[in-house]
Amino acid sequence: MSAIERMFMVIGDPIAHSLSPVMHRSAYAALSLSAWYGACKVTARDLPDAVRGLRALSVAGCNVTIPHKEAILPLLDDLTARARAVGAVNTVTLRDGRLVGDTTDGEGWLRSYQDAGAPSLAGQTVVILGAGGAARSILYTLLTDTPTCARVFVVNRNGERAARLCASFAHLAKRVDLVACSLDELRAQEVDVIINTTSVGMEGAQWNESPISPEFIRAHHWVSDIVYRPAQTVLLIEAEMRGAHTHGGLGMLVYQGALAFEQWFGVTPPIDRMMAAAKEALRMNR
Ligand code: ATR
Repeated sequence: MSAIERMFMVIGDPIAHSLSPVMHRSAYAALSLSAWYGACKVTARDLPDAVRGLRALSVAGCNVTIPHKEAILPLLDDLTARARAVGAVNTVTLRDGRLVGDTTDGEGWLRSYQDAGAPSLAGQTVVILGAGGAARSILYTLLTDTPTCARVFVVNRNGERAARLCASFAHLAKRVDLVACSLDELRAQEVDVIINTTSVGMEGAQWNESPISPEFIRAHHWVSDIVYRPAQTVLLIEAEMRGAHTHGGLGMLVYQGALAFEQWFGVTPPIDRMMAAAKEALRMNR
Protein backbone atom coordinates (compact mmCIF):
# COMPACT_ATOMS: atom_id res chain seq x y z
CA MET A 1 0.00 0.00 0.00
CA SER A 2 1.40 3.43 -0.91
CA ALA A 3 1.71 6.22 1.67
CA ILE A 4 -1.21 8.61 2.05
CA GLU A 5 -0.21 11.97 0.61
CA ARG A 6 -2.46 14.43 2.41
CA MET A 7 -4.29 14.34 5.75
CA PHE A 8 -7.65 15.94 6.50
CA MET A 9 -10.01 15.79 9.46
CA VAL A 10 -13.02 17.22 11.21
CA ILE A 11 -12.67 18.34 14.83
CA GLY A 12 -15.55 18.82 17.27
CA ASP A 13 -17.21 17.46 20.39
CA PRO A 14 -19.27 15.32 20.06
CA ILE A 15 -17.95 14.00 16.76
CA ALA A 16 -18.96 10.31 16.58
CA HIS A 17 -21.96 10.93 14.32
CA SER A 18 -20.26 13.37 11.95
CA LEU A 19 -21.09 12.64 8.32
CA SER A 20 -17.97 14.46 7.06
CA PRO A 21 -15.61 11.44 6.99
CA VAL A 22 -17.88 9.29 4.82
CA MET A 23 -18.68 12.23 2.52
CA HIS A 24 -15.06 13.20 1.94
CA ARG A 25 -13.81 9.62 1.68
CA SER A 26 -16.45 8.86 -0.96
CA ALA A 27 -15.07 11.75 -3.04
CA TYR A 28 -11.45 10.55 -2.57
CA ALA A 29 -12.47 7.08 -3.73
CA ALA A 30 -14.39 8.42 -6.73
CA LEU A 31 -11.43 10.57 -7.85
CA SER A 32 -8.70 8.07 -6.79
CA LEU A 33 -7.07 10.66 -4.53
CA SER A 34 -4.34 9.67 -2.11
CA ALA A 35 -5.81 11.38 0.94
CA TRP A 36 -7.08 10.46 4.40
CA TYR A 37 -10.01 12.03 6.28
CA GLY A 38 -10.65 11.31 9.95
CA ALA A 39 -12.89 12.55 12.75
CA CYS A 40 -11.13 13.70 15.94
CA LYS A 41 -12.87 14.50 19.20
CA VAL A 42 -11.36 17.71 20.56
CA THR A 43 -12.67 19.19 23.81
CA ALA A 44 -12.91 22.95 24.28
CA ARG A 45 -9.97 22.82 26.69
CA ASP A 46 -7.77 21.01 24.17
CA LEU A 47 -8.58 23.22 21.17
CA PRO A 48 -5.37 25.36 21.33
CA ASP A 49 -3.21 22.20 21.50
CA ALA A 50 -5.19 20.61 18.68
CA VAL A 51 -4.62 23.65 16.43
CA ARG A 52 -0.90 23.57 17.21
CA GLY A 53 -1.06 19.86 16.33
CA LEU A 54 -2.57 20.64 12.92
CA ARG A 55 0.47 22.82 12.15
CA ALA A 56 2.97 20.37 13.61
CA LEU A 57 1.54 17.45 11.61
CA SER A 58 1.07 19.53 8.42
CA VAL A 59 -2.59 18.55 8.26
CA ALA A 60 -3.60 19.89 4.83
CA GLY A 61 -7.15 20.82 5.79
CA CYS A 62 -9.61 20.57 8.61
CA ASN A 63 -13.33 21.03 9.10
CA VAL A 64 -14.49 22.55 12.35
CA THR A 65 -17.81 21.84 14.00
CA ILE A 66 -19.68 22.37 17.27
CA PRO A 67 -18.50 23.77 19.72
CA HIS A 68 -15.35 25.23 18.10
CA LYS A 69 -16.59 27.27 15.12
CA GLU A 70 -16.14 30.58 16.95
CA ALA A 71 -13.47 29.69 19.52
CA ILE A 72 -10.99 28.70 16.81
CA LEU A 73 -10.81 32.18 15.21
CA PRO A 74 -8.03 33.69 17.39
CA LEU A 75 -5.98 30.48 17.14
CA LEU A 76 -5.58 30.66 13.34
CA ASP A 77 -2.98 32.61 11.34
CA ASP A 78 -5.38 34.18 8.80
CA LEU A 79 -9.11 34.48 8.17
CA THR A 80 -10.99 35.09 4.94
CA ALA A 81 -13.13 38.24 4.81
CA ARG A 82 -16.30 36.18 5.17
CA ALA A 83 -15.02 34.17 8.14
CA ARG A 84 -14.14 37.45 9.85
CA ALA A 85 -17.54 39.00 9.05
CA VAL A 86 -19.52 35.91 10.08
CA GLY A 87 -17.31 35.34 13.11
CA ALA A 88 -17.14 31.58 12.47
CA VAL A 89 -14.87 29.04 10.77
CA ASN A 90 -15.86 25.63 9.44
CA THR A 91 -12.91 25.11 7.05
CA VAL A 92 -9.19 25.48 7.73
CA THR A 93 -6.58 25.21 4.97
CA LEU A 94 -2.81 24.97 5.40
CA ARG A 95 -1.24 27.47 2.98
CA ASP A 96 2.53 28.00 3.04
CA GLY A 97 2.65 26.78 6.63
CA ARG A 98 -0.15 29.13 7.73
CA LEU A 99 -3.59 28.00 8.90
CA VAL A 100 -6.28 29.98 7.06
CA GLY A 101 -9.88 29.89 8.34
CA ASP A 102 -12.97 30.25 6.15
CA THR A 103 -16.68 29.54 6.43
CA THR A 104 -18.47 27.69 3.63
CA ASP A 105 -21.76 27.20 5.52
CA GLY A 106 -23.68 30.12 4.00
CA GLU A 107 -22.51 29.44 0.44
CA GLY A 108 -23.21 25.75 1.06
CA TRP A 109 -26.82 26.61 1.88
CA LEU A 110 -27.14 28.79 -1.26
CA ARG A 111 -25.61 26.20 -3.62
CA SER A 112 -27.85 23.50 -2.20
CA TYR A 113 -30.92 25.74 -2.47
CA GLN A 114 -30.12 26.53 -6.11
CA ASP A 115 -29.42 22.86 -6.78
CA ALA A 116 -32.93 22.06 -5.50
CA GLY A 117 -34.30 24.04 -8.47
CA ALA A 118 -35.33 27.12 -6.48
CA PRO A 119 -35.79 30.35 -8.45
CA SER A 120 -33.19 33.12 -8.24
CA LEU A 121 -33.32 35.09 -5.00
CA ALA A 122 -32.93 38.34 -6.97
CA GLY A 123 -35.55 40.79 -5.74
CA GLN A 124 -37.15 38.29 -3.39
CA THR A 125 -38.20 38.68 0.25
CA VAL A 126 -36.61 36.16 2.59
CA VAL A 127 -37.43 35.33 6.21
CA ILE A 128 -34.65 33.93 8.40
CA LEU A 129 -35.93 32.18 11.52
CA GLY A 130 -33.22 32.31 14.19
CA ALA A 131 -30.30 34.61 14.93
CA GLY A 132 -27.48 32.23 15.92
CA GLY A 133 -24.34 31.16 14.08
CA ALA A 134 -26.15 29.41 11.22
CA ALA A 135 -28.38 32.46 10.67
CA ARG A 136 -25.27 34.66 10.52
CA SER A 137 -23.61 32.50 7.85
CA ILE A 138 -26.69 32.40 5.63
CA LEU A 139 -27.46 36.08 6.13
CA TYR A 140 -23.90 37.03 5.10
CA THR A 141 -24.34 35.06 1.87
CA LEU A 142 -27.77 36.58 1.18
CA LEU A 143 -26.32 40.09 1.61
CA THR A 144 -23.17 39.57 -0.47
CA ASP A 145 -24.25 37.22 -3.26
CA THR A 146 -25.30 39.08 -6.39
CA PRO A 147 -27.89 39.74 -7.61
CA THR A 148 -29.20 40.15 -4.09
CA CYS A 149 -32.64 39.59 -2.64
CA ALA A 150 -34.70 42.71 -1.94
CA ARG A 151 -35.57 42.22 1.73
CA VAL A 152 -34.58 40.00 4.63
CA PHE A 153 -36.64 39.71 7.81
CA VAL A 154 -34.85 38.15 10.78
CA VAL A 155 -37.25 36.65 13.33
CA ASN A 156 -35.95 35.19 16.58
CA ARG A 157 -37.38 34.00 19.90
CA ASN A 158 -35.00 36.47 21.53
CA GLY A 159 -35.86 39.59 19.53
CA GLU A 160 -32.92 41.60 20.84
CA ARG A 161 -30.53 39.03 19.40
CA ALA A 162 -32.20 39.43 15.98
CA ALA A 163 -31.87 43.22 16.24
CA ARG A 164 -28.18 42.90 17.17
CA LEU A 165 -27.57 40.57 14.21
CA CYS A 166 -29.17 43.03 11.77
CA ALA A 167 -27.26 45.96 13.26
CA SER A 168 -23.95 44.12 12.95
CA PHE A 169 -24.61 43.42 9.23
CA ALA A 170 -26.12 46.83 8.40
CA HIS A 171 -22.91 47.88 6.61
CA LEU A 172 -23.29 44.91 4.22
CA ALA A 173 -26.98 45.56 3.53
CA LYS A 174 -26.49 48.35 0.98
CA ARG A 175 -28.89 46.92 -1.62
CA VAL A 176 -31.01 44.85 0.78
CA ASP A 177 -33.66 46.02 3.22
CA LEU A 178 -32.62 44.17 6.41
CA VAL A 179 -35.17 44.18 9.24
CA ALA A 180 -35.48 42.39 12.58
CA CYS A 181 -39.15 41.72 13.30
CA SER A 182 -41.51 39.63 15.42
CA LEU A 183 -43.73 36.80 14.19
CA ASP A 184 -46.71 39.11 14.69
CA GLU A 185 -45.17 41.81 12.49
CA LEU A 186 -44.35 39.17 9.88
CA ARG A 187 -48.05 38.42 9.41
CA ALA A 188 -48.55 41.64 7.45
CA GLN A 189 -45.65 40.93 5.04
CA GLU A 190 -45.52 39.33 1.61
CA VAL A 191 -42.62 36.90 1.56
CA ASP A 192 -41.13 34.41 -0.92
CA VAL A 193 -38.70 32.27 1.08
CA ILE A 194 -38.67 31.03 4.70
CA ILE A 195 -35.43 29.58 6.09
CA ASN A 196 -35.32 27.83 9.46
CA THR A 197 -31.89 28.15 11.09
CA THR A 198 -33.08 27.30 14.60
CA SER A 199 -32.74 23.89 16.22
CA VAL A 200 -36.53 23.50 16.43
CA GLY A 201 -37.55 20.26 14.69
CA MET A 202 -34.19 18.58 15.27
CA GLU A 203 -34.00 15.00 16.53
CA GLY A 204 -34.19 15.10 20.33
CA ALA A 205 -36.35 17.26 22.56
CA GLN A 206 -37.84 19.49 19.84
CA TRP A 207 -38.35 17.00 16.98
CA ASN A 208 -42.15 17.35 17.00
CA GLU A 209 -42.20 21.17 16.91
CA SER A 210 -42.10 23.70 14.12
CA PRO A 211 -40.52 27.17 14.49
CA ILE A 212 -43.49 28.78 12.72
CA SER A 213 -47.25 28.21 12.63
CA PRO A 214 -48.44 26.60 9.36
CA GLU A 215 -50.81 29.51 8.79
CA PHE A 216 -47.77 31.59 7.69
CA ILE A 217 -47.04 29.22 4.82
CA ARG A 218 -48.44 29.81 1.32
CA ALA A 219 -48.28 27.56 -1.72
CA HIS A 220 -45.88 29.91 -3.58
CA HIS A 221 -43.33 29.89 -0.73
CA TRP A 222 -39.99 28.08 -0.76
CA VAL A 223 -39.48 26.70 2.75
CA SER A 224 -35.94 25.66 3.65
CA ASP A 225 -34.92 23.89 6.86
CA ILE A 226 -31.24 23.49 7.73
CA VAL A 227 -32.12 20.64 10.11
CA TYR A 228 -31.27 17.29 8.47
CA ARG A 229 -31.98 14.86 11.32
CA PRO A 230 -34.81 14.05 10.68
CA ALA A 231 -34.82 14.64 6.91
CA GLN A 232 -38.52 15.56 7.04
CA THR A 233 -39.02 18.04 9.86
CA VAL A 234 -42.45 19.09 11.08
CA LEU A 235 -41.88 22.43 9.31
CA LEU A 236 -41.24 20.71 5.97
CA ILE A 237 -44.18 18.31 6.40
CA GLU A 238 -46.53 21.21 7.14
CA ALA A 239 -45.08 23.23 4.26
CA GLU A 240 -45.72 20.33 1.87
CA MET A 241 -49.27 20.03 3.16
CA ARG A 242 -49.76 23.72 2.33
CA GLY A 243 -48.49 23.08 -1.21
CA ALA A 244 -45.20 24.98 -0.72
CA HIS A 245 -41.81 24.00 -2.20
CA THR A 246 -39.49 22.46 0.36
CA HIS A 247 -35.72 22.20 0.78
CA GLY A 248 -34.12 20.01 3.49
CA GLY A 249 -30.87 20.50 5.38
CA LEU A 250 -28.70 17.65 4.12
CA GLY A 251 -27.78 19.54 0.96
CA MET A 252 -26.26 22.40 2.97
CA LEU A 253 -24.11 19.92 4.86
CA VAL A 254 -22.95 18.23 1.66
CA TYR A 255 -22.24 21.49 -0.15
CA GLN A 256 -20.33 23.07 2.75
CA GLY A 257 -18.12 19.97 2.61
CA ALA A 258 -17.88 20.09 -1.18
CA LEU A 259 -16.79 23.75 -1.04
CA ALA A 260 -14.09 22.85 1.51
CA PHE A 261 -12.99 20.01 -0.78
CA GLU A 262 -12.75 22.47 -3.70
CA GLN A 263 -10.48 24.74 -1.66
CA TRP A 264 -8.22 21.84 -0.71
CA PHE A 265 -7.98 20.06 -4.06
CA GLY A 266 -8.83 22.76 -6.61
CA VAL A 267 -11.42 20.55 -8.31
CA THR A 268 -15.16 20.07 -7.92
CA PRO A 269 -15.96 16.84 -6.07
CA PRO A 270 -18.71 14.44 -7.20
CA ILE A 271 -21.62 15.94 -5.25
CA ASP A 272 -23.93 13.00 -6.03
CA ARG A 273 -21.46 10.54 -4.51
CA MET A 274 -21.03 12.71 -1.41
CA MET A 275 -24.81 13.05 -1.04
CA ALA A 276 -25.37 9.31 -1.43
CA ALA A 277 -22.66 8.55 1.15
CA ALA A 278 -24.16 11.04 3.63
CA LYS A 279 -27.68 9.61 3.15
CA GLU A 280 -26.44 6.07 3.66
CA ALA A 281 -24.52 7.03 6.82
CA LEU A 282 -27.62 8.80 8.17
CA ARG A 283 -29.67 5.67 7.49
CA MET A 284 -27.10 3.47 9.27
CA ASN A 285 -26.91 5.80 12.29
CA ARG A 286 -30.54 5.08 13.09
P1 ATR B 1 -26.33 27.76 15.68
O1 ATR B 1 -24.91 28.22 15.76
O2 ATR B 1 -26.48 26.31 15.29
O3 ATR B 1 -27.19 28.66 14.87
P2 ATR B 1 -27.11 28.95 18.20
O4 ATR B 1 -26.16 30.07 17.96
O5 ATR B 1 -27.18 28.33 19.55
O6 ATR B 1 -26.86 27.74 17.19
O7 ATR B 1 -28.57 29.45 17.76
C1 ATR B 1 -29.70 28.65 17.92
C2 ATR B 1 -30.93 29.40 17.36
O8 ATR B 1 -32.09 28.56 17.55
C3 ATR B 1 -31.22 30.71 18.06
O9 ATR B 1 -31.78 31.61 17.15
C4 ATR B 1 -32.26 30.28 19.13
O10 ATR B 1 -33.09 31.32 19.55
P3 ATR B 1 -32.65 32.27 20.82
O11 ATR B 1 -31.61 33.22 20.28
O12 ATR B 1 -33.91 32.95 21.20
O13 ATR B 1 -32.10 31.35 21.88
C5 ATR B 1 -33.06 29.30 18.31
N1 ATR B 1 -33.85 28.36 19.13
C6 ATR B 1 -33.39 27.32 19.85
N2 ATR B 1 -34.42 26.69 20.48
C7 ATR B 1 -35.56 27.37 20.15
C8 ATR B 1 -36.95 27.23 20.47
N3 ATR B 1 -37.40 26.25 21.25
N4 ATR B 1 -37.82 28.11 19.91
C9 ATR B 1 -37.38 29.10 19.10
N5 ATR B 1 -36.09 29.30 18.77
C10 ATR B 1 -35.19 28.44 19.28
